[in-house]
Amino acid sequence: MLLPNLQEAKNRTKKEVLIKTNDYIIKENLKELGLNKKYFVKTYGCQMNEHDSENIKAILEDMSFKPTDNMEDADLILLNTCAIRENAHNKVFGYLGRIKHLKETKPSIIVGLCGCMAQEEVVINEILNKYNWLDIVFGTHNIHSLPSILEKALSNKKMEVEVLSIEGDVVENIPVKRDSKYKAWVNIMYGCDKFCTYCIVPYTRGKQRSRLPEFIIEEVKDLVKKGYKEVTLLGQNVNAYGKDLKINYGMSDLLNDVAKTGIERIRFVTSHPWDFTDEMITAIKNNENIMPYIHLPIQSGSNNILKLMGRRYTKESYLELFNKLKKEIPNVSITTDIIVGFPNETEEDFLETLDIVNTCKFDSAFTFIFSKREGTPAANMKDSVTLEEKNKRLYELNELVNKYALENNKKYLNKTVKVLLEGISDKNKNMLMGYTDTMKLVNVISPKSNIGKIVDVKITDVKTWSMDGKIIEN
Ligand code: 5AD
Ligand code: SF4
Repeated sequence: MLLPNLQEAKNRTKKEVLIKTNDYIIKENLKELGLNKKYFVKTYGCQMNEHDSENIKAILEDMSFKPTDNMEDADLILLNTCAIRENAHNKVFGYLGRIKHLKETKPSIIVGLCGCMAQEEVVINEILNKYNWLDIVFGTHNIHSLPSILEKALSNKKMEVEVLSIEGDVVENIPVKRDSKYKAWVNIMYGCDKFCTYCIVPYTRGKQRSRLPEFIIEEVKDLVKKGYKEVTLLGQNVNAYGKDLKINYGMSDLLNDVAKTGIERIRFVTSHPWDFTDEMITAIKNNENIMPYIHLPIQSGSNNILKLMGRRYTKESYLELFNKLKKEIPNVSITTDIIVGFPNETEEDFLETLDIVNTCKFDSAFTFIFSKREGTPAANMKDSVTLEEKNKRLYELNELVNKYALENNKKYLNKTVKVLLEGISDKNKNMLMGYTDTMKLVNVISPKSNIGKIVDVKITDVKTWSMDGKIIEN
């Protein structure tokens, strides 16, 4: 049993990051382990987790498991979890309750938990105490070891827990089964060294480690060959890409090189305002295939709170960057993340957050109530603000955010925009859905044959969260 240790997970040493090109191996005797068996993977959290699940699915298929969308049908159930806030945590334990009933009627089901929650000591203790009927638990650093973890659990007939609390390496040869045929996630870096005081990510995902550019470019070229239209370059803080490499090559270089592959659309998430360089802005401006969309988390509009959060910028420097982006990149859309109710956030602090939302008029924002994460510095900060007050602030903030989301969308009315049609719309089975270059959700009446195409759409109606439009024939 390898248990997590948050103290060790916090370590940042000078230890060299290893690029491992053959660590994923699938032994002959495991290639048919899943024959005639089905798997069901449920994913919580961010795009990084979505992409990890794409790796997990491919590994399971290498072992001959077949996918099912119906958990009741599955022989293997894996929950790929998120640790960022308490409610994600609660949802997972709620779901495990359901799975327990299923396992009681069908004891042969293999049940596993992986992802960020597996890296937390409190979670593993709870699993060992109350959920000891689980079969496998593994963390974010050893997804590639899934075959051997599964093998051990099955042959020992007891729960196999393998969680590594290490700074981490880069494993390059993990297979992937992508959810979409048109847009793809591409990891460019793993982990984070920013240690914002509220955030668990630097503990659950290790130190910042960039992939070598040649591996990233190869992956994108291969996607182009396979007909993919869009890539999203993924990392906790993509602007810091390359800083840990011993070569003089950063995010702006990567953006320029990825643009040269000819892929039609390039996006990147997430940006920390600290590392956003002028060269990056130039790269976005100069390459038509880099989308004018930037997710730029601000977290708070109060300098006091930003300092307590350890965010390394002020309201003023954020605004300076924001204004530069708006000025330099035509038609850019900027979204953000905001936390309310950080320990001891005063009414004045909160008003400053509303104030910056009024100034920036974000295209949209993800808003959260501060959630205490065991092991992070903010978890030990005294907090006198009541939950009732925090809920009130969240409500007020959302009203304002929604107002500007709608206002921004209204500018699109009667305009023609390019939309990559991805699939059937959730709201109407006769419509297709897709996103504009600026990441606006659009629903369009269209034949299914247009799925996977980038089409010109005239916007006919706008709402807060989406727009409707009709295809313009060229
Ligand atoms: N509580 C609330 N929100 C959080 N986030 C990260 N950690 C926490 C936390 N402890 C939010 C931040 C981040 C987004 C991904 O999640 O806004 O940008
Ligand atoms: Fe968390 Fe801050 Fe790193 Fe983002 S930059 S993952 S909020 S520590």
